[in-house]
Order: sequence, then structure tokens, then C-alpha cells
Amino acid sequence: MVKKISIIGSGSVGSNLAFCILSYLDIKDLVLVDIAGTLAEGVALDLEDTRSFIGFNTNILGTSNIKHIKDSDIVVITSGIPRKEGMSRLDLFKTNSKIAIGAADKIKRLAPASIIIVVTNPLDLITYVVYKHSHFNRQRVMGMGSSLDSARLANLIHKKLKVSVSDISALVIGPHSKDMIPLDSFVKIKGAALDSFMAQEEISVINDKVKLRGKEIVSFLKKKSASFAPALSCLKLIEAVSKDKNEIIPVSTLLEGEYGLKDMCIGIPCIINRRGVSKIIEVKLNSSQKKELCKAKKIFLECMM
Ligand code: 2OP
Repeated sequence: MVKKISIIGSGSVGSNLAFCILSYLDIKDLVLVDIAGTLAEGVALDLEDTRSFIGFNTNILGTSNIKHIKDSDIVVITSGIPRKEGMSRLDLFKTNSKIAIGAADKIKRLAPASIIIVVTNPLDLITYVVYKHSHFNRQRVMGMGSSLDSARLANLIHKKLKVSVSDISALVIGPHSKDMIPLDSFVKIKGAALDSFMAQEEISVINDKVKLRGKEIVSFLKKKSASFAPALSCLKLIEAVSKDKNEIIPVSTLLEGEYGLKDMCIGIPCIINRRGVSKIIEVKLNSSQKKELCKAKKIFLECMM
């Protein structure tokens, strides 16, 4: 049973995620940590005041002291500098990897039995860094990226076809970057293939749009990146863990030979349950999809050098 969840970073994603957790789950303790002065405390007080509207019994603590994550069942890392207009996710790596390593070291000591969900960008690299420095087994470290990309693909298909989004099953794998891999052949609309509904050119336009969706949102927000969909995408992972759902969700996870890749993190469909990444699913990829995954490996290794 998941009783305590801690969120490191009380910015837009962290505070929206906290609100989602309080709205959809009933846990005993929710801890928000942020090194920025009294931000986490203020967010916690504001969230507390939603109690009578939402009806949760959760104890909420906002703090700048990370020691309060002690014995968390799930720790979500959202801390780090967000992307600003004109920046790539990769531009964040130097700064955010230091922050993530610090968090991983503290989680190893204070919450050694927890499952870690990484949100901080560049997502796959930070997930790898957190995995390495936490010394957890790979099941217990996952990155939220491809599930957000898959949700965005479903939304763009909905907007194009005007069919209910609940009839759309979309899958994006690969890096949470402009090199992500929308798997058209896996997209189903009430079981029917996507190319029954639109021409290949239209599918390509949507694929190009989903790859740059994060950047598009930053171009409007200027000094921050998306937060609502990332928060709900993270909640989906937390629910799959908390309720032991065995749900198939694409997450960034450490590969040890799957898809011919090893010692790297990348978005892949996995079974998510109380143990974390319970199983990596090797879907059948066509030659061009395999080629794109190999390209992603090259980029990952270049960045890690
Ligand atoms: C995005 O794609 C923040 O990486 C996140 O919007």
C-alpha cells in the first residue's frame, strides 16, 4: 500500500501533480520539497485549503528540508531549471544532472525502499543519472516522458478526426525529445488502424507536430514548460504503482539488452505495478522504427560522454 509520496520540486509540474494526487488518490502523507525559500510551504498551505472541496484526509507538508522525504513509498523528482524559449531539453543537462544526483543520493539514504519517478529534463539522461546514483534496481526508477508524448499524439489525432479521445490508443516510444518515435502502426481507433482514417501525409504532419509539442508550448509560455499534462501523466504512473494495476505505459527505463540496447534509458512500453517497472515489453518494430531507435542510442551515448 502506498502511504507516503514525496515530490521534490514545487514548481508548476510539482504543484500541479500534488493537486492531482490529492484529487484522485487518498494517501496518508504528501510531502512537497523545494530548496527555493518558502515556496513548498506556501503551495502546501494553499493545497490544504482545498480539503473541504476535495474531501481528502492526507497530511500535507511543504518544506525546504529534504529529510522529510524519509520512508516515502514513491518519490517524484521534478526539480531543476525548466526549459525557456530557445532552449533544448539538452541545454538543461549540466545543471539538472547535478540537482538530480543530489536528489538520488538523498533518496538512497532516506527512502531506500521507494520507487522513483523522474520528470526533470533532459528526461532520459536524468533518469539514467538517477538510476546510477540511487543504486536502486532498474525496476524502481522510471522516467515520465513517452506517456506524455503518447497522450499528446492521442490529442492531436482527436483534434484532426474529431473522434472521442477514449477511442484512441496511441503509442510513442524512444527519447523524450524531438527524436521520439510515434508508432503509427500501433495507433488504433476503436481497433481500426490509423491509416483507415487519414492519409500518410496527414499522419506525418501529426507525427512532426507531436515531436515538437513541448517546444511549441514553451514558445507560448516563454519562461516555463508545460505542466498540466506532465502532471497528469505522472499521476497515471503513480496510480499504476499505488493500485498495482499492471498497466502497460511507455516509460523511460534502463535497457539491458532489450531492443538490442543496453546501459541507457529510453521510452519503452512497460508493465507498471507496485514493484515499479515490472516488465519491459518488446514490441515488434519495422526496419525504420529500429533505425530510429539506434539513432536515439547514438545521441544518448554522445550526450553521456
Ligand atoms: C514537455 O515535453 C516538460 O518535457 C516536458 O513539455
